Amino acid sequence: MRLAVIGCGYVGLVTGCCLAETGHDVVATDNDPNRIATLKAGRLPIHEPGLDVVMQRASAASRLRFTGDCADAVRNADAIFICVGTPPLESGEADLSAIDNVAKQIAAASSSSKLVIEKSTVPARTGDQLRRALNVYGRSTGVTFRVASNPEFLREGTGVGDFFHPDRIVVGVEDEESERLLREIYKPILEGDFCCPVHQPGCPEGRVTSFLVTTIASAELIKHASNSFLGLKISYANVLADLCEKLGANVDEVTQAVGLDPRIGRQFLSAGLGFGGFCLPKDIQAFIHLAEREGVDFSMLKEVEKINKRRIDQLMEKVREALWVVKDKKIGVLGLAFKPDTDDIRFAPAIDVVRRLQSERAVIRASDPVAIERARTVLPGMTFIQDPYEVARGADALLLLTEWKEYRELDWRLIYSEMARPLVFDARNMLSPKDMQSIGFEYHSFGRPDVSAAMPVLVG
Ligand code: UDX
Repeated sequence: MRLAVIGCGYVGLVTGCCLAETGHDVVATDNDPNRIATLKAGRLPIHEPGLDVVMQRASAASRLRFTGDCADAVRNADAIFICVGTPPLESGEADLSAIDNVAKQIAAASSSSKLVIEKSTVPARTGDQLRRALNVYGRSTGVTFRVASNPEFLREGTGVGDFFHPDRIVVGVEDEESERLLREIYKPILEGDFCCPVHQPGCPEGRVTSFLVTTIASAELIKHASNSFLGLKISYANVLADLCEKLGANVDEVTQAVGLDPRIGRQFLSAGLGFGGFCLPKDIQAFIHLAEREGVDFSMLKEVEKINKRRIDQLMEKVREALWVVKDKKIGVLGLAFKPDTDDIRFAPAIDVVRRLQSERAVIRASDPVAIERARTVLPGMTFIQDPYEVARGADALLLLTEWKEYRELDWRLIYSEMARPLVFDARNMLSPKDMQSIGFEYHSFGRPDVSAAMPVLVG
């Protein structure tokens, strides 16, 4: 099928490249000329494992093209995916102006009937508004538009694998033709008819993808409902960690046992610095706003947000307590991205922590395997050093803020010998307190007993 993708951000790029890989002809567009120039030059403006391979293969097979001209992308397309940003307004409500703007451009460029698919995360009822906007903007041409909602559940860092092996494909439609078109678009995924770039030589067997056909309103709710629930699980684990700290219990042991109940599940129960990124915080805010607008009391989600914000304060309290005076202390920061395997720093808890340390006039040196360039743009004047060992050299404390595998695998004995004071705050509970103690560190994490070389761990 001929597909257009509008918006070459994270979702648009993964969607466009992967759909081209499954045999469709995709033209992707964006209103940022620099982004389009980068893509046309065969480079990706984001860090996403495996996506470069998919993009190169699809481009070489002439199934993927980038253009700065939205009309060029839309003109010959049978279906159009809207993947533009819906950032939060000051009120927490999603800003839908980019979608409105795109609707205008689609209507102006279309001379034949199109299926317009919302892929951006949008509040309920956006589909109705979008259909109305398309028909109003296109009233002089007589072209009709079908609207569908097809939320994505891609996780940054594993988005390519998630696209090819989804748990579910949700399509919210209002007519059979839209359902038929969406089934055709996703047929290669449902039938495993593509060359998987993630699993070589073959994909794991036995995974089943559910294809769920719903109303547009339900599809729009599903994404917000999923992300809010994930945030809720994380905040639950974080409060549990606070309680474990008070009682001398270990949150990892508790969540492991709790998560073995299949009704609960182990995932998203990792306590630590809390959730960030461009999806969870913004979707929870938008969901709260939506519920309020509809007169439904979802204050439970406000609590989730509050608990999440408090994680930064709690880490700062631990730092202050151990360092006594923060001003002029040399602090090394490991991890700036909001989670590993991405260079995304939007709403990253690590960036908030660095700002707090800056405001207390600590001397900071920070590192991240891939996010330094992006961090430089929001933390001007900060010292960034790629080599984690150099970050540790002469430091009074080291803060682990993103759970990169690279950091787990560091030579912590060498780090111990490099630091002025062997003090580590592991805000992601990545390392073993016992191992850190045996090296000689004073080691603090969340919801697990603090250890120092002088204070033996009781192994029960
Ligand atoms: C999320 C959803 O998972 C995905 O389905 C949706 O399409 C987009 O939003 P993403 O933003 O990539 O994906 O990140 P995710 O893996 O969900 O992690 C979000 C944040 O939660 C990260 O900051 C992570 O460090 C944190 N987290 C995650 C925890 O603090 N504890 C956990 O147990 C899990």
